[in-house]
Amino acid sequence: MVNKYRQDKLPESSNSYWTNYDELPIFPKLNTDIHVDAVIVGGGITGITTAYLLTNAGLKVALLESDRLLNGTTGHTTAKITAQHDLIYDELIRNIGIDRAGMYYESNMEALNFIKKTIELHEIDCDFSPQDAWLYATTEKYQEKIEKEAIAYEKLNIKGSLVDSIPFGIEVKNALIMSNQAQFHPVKYLTALVKQIISKGAQIFEQTTAVDVKTRIQPTVYTSEKFSVTADYILACSHFPFYEGIGLYSARMHAERSYIIAAKSNIKYPGGMYLSADEPKRSLRSVTINDEEMILIGGESHKTGQSEDTLKHYEALEVFGKHHLGLEAISHRWSAQDLITIDKVPYVGKITQGQDRILIATSYRKWGMTNGTHAAILLSDLVLKRKNNYQDLYRPSRFYPIPSIKNLIVQNANVVEQLIKGKLQLSHITTESIANDEAVAILTIDGERKGAYKDKEGKIHIVDTTCTHIGCEVDWNSGERSWDCPCHGSRFSYTGEVLEGPAEKPLQKYDYKMIDNLTSDDSGY
Ligand SMILES: Cc1cc2nc3c(=O)[nH]c(=O)nc-3n(C[C@H](O)[C@H](O)[C@H](O)COP(=O)(O)OP(=O)(O)OC[C@H]3O[C@@H](n4cnc5c(N)ncnc54)[C@H](O)[C@@H]3O)c2cc1C
Ligand code: FES
Repeated sequence: MVNKYRQDKLPESSNSYWTNYDELPIFPKLNTDIHVDAVIVGGGITGITTAYLLTNAGLKVALLESDRLLNGTTGHTTAKITAQHDLIYDELIRNIGIDRAGMYYESNMEALNFIKKTIELHEIDCDFSPQDAWLYATTEKYQEKIEKEAIAYEKLNIKGSLVDSIPFGIEVKNALIMSNQAQFHPVKYLTALVKQIISKGAQIFEQTTAVDVKTRIQPTVYTSEKFSVTADYILACSHFPFYEGIGLYSARMHAERSYIIAAKSNIKYPGGMYLSADEPKRSLRSVTINDEEMILIGGESHKTGQSEDTLKHYEALEVFGKHHLGLEAISHRWSAQDLITIDKVPYVGKITQGQDRILIATSYRKWGMTNGTHAAILLSDLVLKRKNNYQDLYRPSRFYPIPSIKNLIVQNANVVEQLIKGKLQLSHITTESIANDEAVAILTIDGERKGAYKDKEGKIHIVDTTCTHIGCEVDWNSGERSWDCPCHGSRFSYTGEVLEGPAEKPLQKYDYKMIDNLTSDDSGY
């Protein structure tokens, strides 16, 4: 719970390097009812690429974004563009068969080539650079897994090479290289697509939150300010689908956070993008910040809302950087979360079987540069009624019994565990006992659990810690100064506003005096 910046080198606040790029235009709120051919909800890589494809095809498109464009997970990624998605192909072959595993690889390579061609076509300056992707093992257990992955590469005709070292001061057992992958600056790339979209007449609205869908007469999205967008198609590209229909997405995926630091180092970066197969994950790539070559060091995944002290994850990356990479200083730190389905393949397509007009794309397992781009291609093919060979692979209503049943049980048992655990974690406290920039979960005299955060100026902010989605207890995230839900990954600011769904409503706020007086009469404003 203690929120002190214990390492001098860590920047005080989370701040993604990518989102500092300031050429992205500002867009108005939606303040009237409109009608378009397709309404896209969510301005990340999926929504923007889909809008780009549909406007190119001549459709009238509206893009709704609840915050600023590109301030979601896409603005907080590592931005490796690769089909090497950690250890995956051996598992996919076993679980969904060799043909589908091969299609997963092909579709992601198609996405990589799409990004490359789009950059060439519009001459986009986005630091795109071809790189090899390396997956390495530091333990015997993972050495064996990498050997199996190499066999899977052979079966799927993926060009790869198995080697026994990497060009860093990290001792490894073996490593698997996938050649001709790439990295880029995602916000520069997508800002250029946004400019293309506007030039083709698409309407973009920021600070516009979609909250509901009605389909009775014509598909319609309603915003939190009660305006409507009617359209032939609704495309939910909102990371967690802003509308679940009867698709039960909350039960079929979970959210995991990871951490990134941008490090100045005294070693010469040898090129390449690296990922450890072992836990805890370590992900590396180079990036040029202010004309200086830096290293992005990422990793430390955990289920959202299920880490006791999120700052310790940055510190672990810092220690790793000092030990192996000559880390001298950290210019930026940030974290974000991505969603993972029960069979590890994204959900892209009709929200439920038979509902042709509402499409979704979600859950890229931290590989959304290619998966999100491919999702956009698939969604636009569905809208434009074009054949797409990967429709069945990504169909959201699919169910493969082998991985799905086990993971469904594990995921939902974890939700129940969190639901109960949260209700038990309580302590009595007074305002004086909370330090500035610290948060605690407190117990009121009438037995209710509240969250109290004392900001840097000493002002107390109290919220009800019961998540407005389905009632799990949120936990404090000291790295982001947010309340995070351990069940399905909703996040709230310290004043209770929704930062990420599936929750739609803010946490109930309370008067700070309630802590010391400890009566329910003081609550609510
Ligand atoms: C730490 C980390 C590192 C990663 N590194 C890589 C990597 O190296 N390579 C890779 O391929 N992938 C990586 N990923 C994954 C990748 O970044 C994501 O999969 C991808 O960015 C998701 O894109 P998206 O468009 O689905 O979501 P987002 O970028 O989150 O966009 C969704 C948008 O929808 C908006 N929204 C949500 N609800 C509503 C609503 N109700 N109304 C209106 N708007 C709404 C949000 O504000 C947001 O802007 C990483 C992920 C993480 C967490
Ligand atoms: S996100 Fe589902 S209960 Fe909080």
